Amino acid sequence: MLKVSAKSTGETLLGRLLVEQGLCTSDELAECLVVQSQQDKESNQRSLADIMVANGFITPTQLNRVRAAVEEQKSIQQIPGYQILSKLGFGAMAVVFKARQLSLDRMVAIKVLPKKLSENKEFVDRFYMEGKAAAKLNHPNIVAAYDVGEASGYHYFVMEYVEGKTVYDHLVDSGKPYPENEALGIIIQICRALVHAHQHGLIHRDVKPKNIMITPTGVAKLADMGLARQVGDQAAALAEAGKAYGTPYYISPEQIRGEMHVDFRADIYSLGATFYHMVTGRVPFEAPSPAAVMHKHLKEPLIPPDHIVTSLSAGVAEIIEVAMAKDPGKRYVSTQDMLTDLEAVARGEPPLLARRSYDLTSLANMESTAGAADSLVSGGGADVHSQATIDFSARTFVQKFTDPLVLFLAGTLLLAVIFIIALLLSR
Ligand SMILES: Nc1ncnc2c1ncn2[C@@H]1O[C@H](COP(=O)(O)OP(=O)(O)OP(=O)(O)O)[C@@H](O)[C@H]1O
Ligand SMILES: [Mg+2]
Repeated sequence: MLKVSAKSTGETLLGRLLVEQGLCTSDELAECLVVQSQQDKESNQRSLADIMVANGFITPTQLNRVRAAVEEQKSIQQIPGYQILSKLGFGAMAVVFKARQLSLDRMVAIKVLPKKLSENKEFVDRFYMEGKAAAKLNHPNIVAAYDVGEASGYHYFVMEYVEGKTVYDHLVDSGKPYPENEALGIIIQICRALVHAHQHGLIHRDVKPKNIMITPTGVAKLADMGLARQVGDQAAALAEAGKAYGTPYYISPEQIRGEMHVDFRADIYSLGATFYHMVTGRVPFEAPSPAAVMHKHLKEPLIPPDHIVTSLSAGVAEIIEVAMAKDPGKRYVSTQDMLTDLEAVARGEPPLLARRSYDLTSLANMESTAGAADSLVSGGGADVHSQATIDFSARTFVQKFTDPLVLFLAGTLLLAVIFIIALLLSR
């Protein structure tokens, strides 16, 4: 097979970007490379770009745009100590490249801020915060942070290279939900990562399927501590107050409200929303615009996941519903508690902490119903009711009767009744 390559790194990059951006096909590129190689002997050589335009595969305007991107990528190629190999992907804030760290001869992933963002102090500060926050953590289920720096005006963050796909890619590629046990296995690993992060006083703030990578051996890794900040860092909280960072499909209500004191429970909500998407194949709240999605997070009751996938176990559905309670006070009181329940369900046992939380919620609801008139007068009632989203329906009604505590109380009551009847009869 005839293999023709471009004349320079710039042309290789240009060709790659043209194909990557869907401006021409790889066959059209190959055709032009052949034409270019045949021109070698002629005195008047044309560049690859000129040949592409002359053949009508791209327009001069498209060429100019791609040339600007080539220049940008050429500067990015010059990060001292690293050899950029390929582009792994890009998100809302940055581009991620696969690279070789020359000193240690290992693969790494480098996240590079685009130049226009590199000039934005707020973005740069957040970018360095990501590096510092991630560097504090050392856990098998968290993507390791290696280095952070600036070269040719570009700020970059070097991290462990994770071979494999994100949970988001898997959901899109397969087009169907994860089998329950597989999802549970992944969520348990990410919950362990969060327990570690929270123990170190760090909140992720952007837990979502795109930030969970799965290695070929099935290890789940939490990526992108991009929105992480120290708990209690008042300056950061103040800088962020009133702004809603994060992705609307998984973002917690308190983040949407731009609350200053967002804590670990925001991650519990997002982990619950991620779990919901994995087991149902649907995001918890769907709407045409990000604003409408966020409104639903705040106000709309959650459709219980086992109403969508009826084969889902009650335990998994209960964990998701408690994790996704709109009021942080009705969620798990610690990430460790959520992990305890997840591990119990994985062993085939009931999620006792979720049930206890539900029982406390019912009590609180009974109290608030009793005081409904007062609340309405004071104006505080509407909020309480809009936050009461846990719908345990018939599922837990049946399960409640198999709960050891309920069985014990019912047994005691029955014995007392028998005792009283026996006493009356003996008279
Ligand atoms: N450490 C890594 N190893 C390998 N690939 C990675 C790594 N980190 C990120 N990627 C890839 O790069 C892509 C872009 O990552 P990035 O964190 O910039 O954005 P995102 O999380 O997908 O989206 P958003 O910017 O909306 O949060 C990811 O989807 C993933 O495919
Ligand atoms: Mg990411």
